[in-house]
Amino acid sequence: MEFSRRSPMRAQVIKVISVFMVVAFLSQRGAESRKANFQGSMFEYTAISCRAHSASLTDFNGVGDGKTSNTKAFQAAIDNLSQHASDGGALLYVPPGKWLTGSFQLTSHFTLYLHQDAVLLASQDMNEWPVLKPLPSYGRGRDAAGGRYASLIFGTNLTDVIVTGANGTIDGQGSMWWQKFHGGKLKYTRPYLIELMFSDNIQISNLTLLNSPSWNIHPVYSSNIVVQGITIIAPVRSPNTDGINPDSCTNIRIEDCYIVSGDDCVAVKSGWDEYGIQFGWPTKQLVIRRLTCISPYSAVIALGSEMSGGIEDVRAEDIVAFNTESAVRIKTAVGRGGYVKDVYVKRLTLHTMKWVFLMNGNYKAHADGHYDPNALPEVKGINYRDVVAENVSMAARLEGISGDPFTGICISNVTINVAAKSKKVQWMCNDVAGITSGVSPPPCGSLPDQGPEKIGACDFPADSLAIDRVNFKKCSYTITNA
Ligand SMILES: *[C@@H]1O[C@H](CO)[C@@H](O)[C@H](O)[C@H]1NC(C)=O
Ligand SMILES: *[C@@H]1O[C@H](CO)[C@@H](O)[C@H](O)[C@H]1NC(C)=O
Ligand SMILES: *[C@@H]1O[C@H](CO)[C@@H](O)[C@H](O)[C@H]1NC(C)=O
Ligand SMILES: *[C@@H]1O[C@H](CO)[C@@H](O)[C@H](O)[C@H]1NC(C)=O
Ligand SMILES: *[C@@H]1O[C@H](CO)[C@@H](O)[C@H](O)[C@H]1NC(C)=O
Ligand SMILES: *[C@@H]1O[C@H](CO)[C@@H](O)[C@H](O)[C@H]1NC(C)=O
Repeated sequence: MEFSRRSPMRAQVIKVISVFMVVAFLSQRGAESRKANFQGSMFEYTAISCRAHSASLTDFNGVGDGKTSNTKAFQAAIDNLSQHASDGGALLYVPPGKWLTGSFQLTSHFTLYLHQDAVLLASQDMNEWPVLKPLPSYGRGRDAAGGRYASLIFGTNLTDVIVTGANGTIDGQGSMWWQKFHGGKLKYTRPYLIELMFSDNIQISNLTLLNSPSWNIHPVYSSNIVVQGITIIAPVRSPNTDGINPDSCTNIRIEDCYIVSGDDCVAVKSGWDEYGIQFGWPTKQLVIRRLTCISPYSAVIALGSEMSGGIEDVRAEDIVAFNTESAVRIKTAVGRGGYVKDVYVKRLTLHTMKWVFLMNGNYKAHADGHYDPNALPEVKGINYRDVVAENVSMAARLEGISGDPFTGICISNVTINVAAKSKKVQWMCNDVAGITSGVSPPPCGSLPDQGPEKIGACDFPADSLAIDRVNFKKCSYTITNA
């Protein structure tokens, strides 16, 4: 009795408290926009590690007016915070504002945290971009023979590095670079937005990346990497604006990303021709899940064309694409060497595609004339299942290499509805071998149908990968007055 009499009162109290909280929250947001370091604002985020120390970019004389260069402020802040590497690590908070900056370098046991209204604007001043040596597994730059501009956010030989935020923005202001590229005016290869090299334990999450000069996210020679909740947007005709490119990396998880770009949404790589063969670092144990891609001139997931160190154990699932050239594309050539093997893909939902399955064994684009004509790539164990596609021009174009066929191709439970203006021949197959089951339109003779009882073939391995056992902690950051 007593309890039931009390409870309406209690509800009343709760209501008052929650109204008060909404008011407090709104006034806090107002104060925040007037004064970035309003006392008491707290941000919660999830991360592979929380940090014991923190500072704001404004503590290092950062100016968020979109005009003042903050390159020195970023570098001073990170260098200062690096003293906490063995003492709980540190977080650098980037407040609301437009923070113009050139390339800067991260440190270990470090988090770069962007407020949801923080925008990093990439500098248009060429002096703000140091030039690095070419990547050893590529031998040369991709845009020009020599070096390459350091990426906007760069790190090498690091451990435990996080770049995150509440969906804050990194704007590469790429059009200047795209024009230079098209005009043949680049002395060095264009910078990327985020690159980590020779590093491990990396998290890149909850950010929006706009208009990168070239690739967006490039982990290279690195391991234990989670890329989560990233939105990437670039014009669909911008040159080489690949989304996420794991390159000679082990144990990678890419999930919950939305990518619109002028090149492949995800491109898996491992070095180029004789340089990649000699360096010999594969990309392996890669998970890609819940990816949405729009890329009218490229693939949802490309394997190669630089795959000379090998690509192995790739598992992709729950992929959605609209208006994209192909779903999964294998690109390689004589001279690449290396391998692409044990690739598993399932649950694709595709709308308006030129090809669903695409393999090109003649994707030449060599680093130079010194490639070994006897270095043949090995492509085997490529599995696709549970695919639904509509408005498709051609189901598959599968071109292996004469004398070096692509083998162990397995395709099951695939329904492709062709477009009104589709190709007469839906499957083109050369130098490939494998099996199919439950696939329509009917596949080519080199991929014979095993009958409906094999519809569950082409499945993922039963084991899970180590990167799927990485746990996130709940962390928080409270702004205090400096
Ligand atoms: C990203 O944000 C979502 C919600 O906005 C949250 O659930 C998730 O934990 C965040 N992930 C990371 C890795 O910060
Ligand atoms: C950087 O670190 C030192 C301690 O080594 C500290 O005294 C100093 O105040 C810091 N600089 C800034 C601008 O916060
Ligand atoms: C980074 O690590 C690589 C590989 O271990 C090594 O070759 C290189 O010298 C290191 N670079 C720096 C700057 O320490
Ligand atoms: C992040 O921002 C982008 C660009 O404004 C938006 O499209 C996307 O939906 C946002 N993501 C989240 C999780 O809020
Ligand atoms: C075939 O694929 C569809 C669509 O992805 C799925 O709903 C269905 O369960 C799959 N069938 C089998 C036998 O796996
Ligand atoms: C089908 O694809 C064609 C391009 O091949 C496109 O022009 C058309 O808009 C698509 N139709 C639908 C309904 O998406």
